[in-house]
Amino acid sequence: MKTIEWQNDKILILDQTRLPGQVEYVTLSSVDEVAHAIKSLQVRGAPLIGVVAAWGLVLAVMSYSGPSAELAEIMNAARQQLTATRPTAVNLQWAVSRMMEAYDQVQDLDLSSIRHRLTEEARAMQEEDLSTNRLIGEWGARLLHPDTKVLTICNAGALATCGHGTALGIVRSAFAQGKIQKVWVSETRPVLQGARLTAWELSRDEIPATLITDNMAGFLMQRGEVDAVITGADRIAANGDTANKIGTYSLAVLARYHDIPFYVAAPVSSIDISMEEGSLIPIEERDPDEVRIIGECCITSVDIPVVNPAFDVTPSHLITAIVTEKGIVRGPYLETLAEINNVKR
Ligand code: MRU
Repeated sequence: MKTIEWQNDKILILDQTRLPGQVEYVTLSSVDEVAHAIKSLQVRGAPLIGVVAAWGLVLAVMSYSGPSAELAEIMNAARQQLTATRPTAVNLQWAVSRMMEAYDQVQDLDLSSIRHRLTEEARAMQEEDLSTNRLIGEWGARLLHPDTKVLTICNAGALATCGHGTALGIVRSAFAQGKIQKVWVSETRPVLQGARLTAWELSRDEIPATLITDNMAGFLMQRGEVDAVITGADRIAANGDTANKIGTYSLAVLARYHDIPFYVAAPVSSIDISMEEGSLIPIEERDPDEVRIIGECCITSVDIPVVNPAFDVTPSHLITAIVTEKGIVRGPYLETLAEINNVKR
């Protein structure tokens, strides 16, 4: 199942707000439409929104036909609009910056060469994401023993990427090696990426999955029903503190209490070496109605005050290992993450 495709100079995305009920593709033809698709979670997951935003910049140059001096302004405006959509996932900034670097190198050339170069770059990023996830899967599978019961949150799967997934990439690779007994899928309130997306994705692949509400994790751990927690990441600070879907931190605390390994799976592009520690990571605050309303049904008083942080930060000392495409990284993260990023400390 493709999450994104470049077709006839437009972006085709699988609309994740419709899943699991409807498998529907939506065409995006402008930067405005791309920004809306990212903001409204039609596309979501840190690696995928990075790649979609990269294609958004291709759309910006495809729809432009004026003098090339003005194109630079248009590209910069598109860059700002796209990165403002979701502040926590660093992959978005990373992908857009990479596209702008490619643009800077060719901006003095004719329009068709610029279009060609940017298309090439976005396509490369899309393909790299898939191969990166396969490597994460292979590395991560080494951490698991036969018959492992994994608990995961949100959707860090094929749906959150250009294929295979990060946390679910490990599950997929380990399942192929006969190492997965079952996956506990935390439903992930408020917008239920676990119940709607992870449950759907795993059942399509016939990987045994059982859905739980978010508040059941401790009970299962206490009963010895969880051997490992594996989650994705939206941004990993230089010291290893990791922002991921709200609820991840609670799982990490529970995992430590019950002596269960807690693994984070993410591409190197999710590591923000410029951010010293997790408290500096901007946390996206979303519409309160996401908490008040499930589907079409208001489940509380219509005007009850609500907080709706989309992510939380897990301190690095609770993380057993971070699995990247370059290998398995363990603490002290300040040193090991710098090393993996080729940064001298
Ligand atoms: O709000 P979402 O659905 O974009 O949140 C996604 C997550 O928190 C994922 O765990 C993270 O982006 C990693 S996806 C491989």
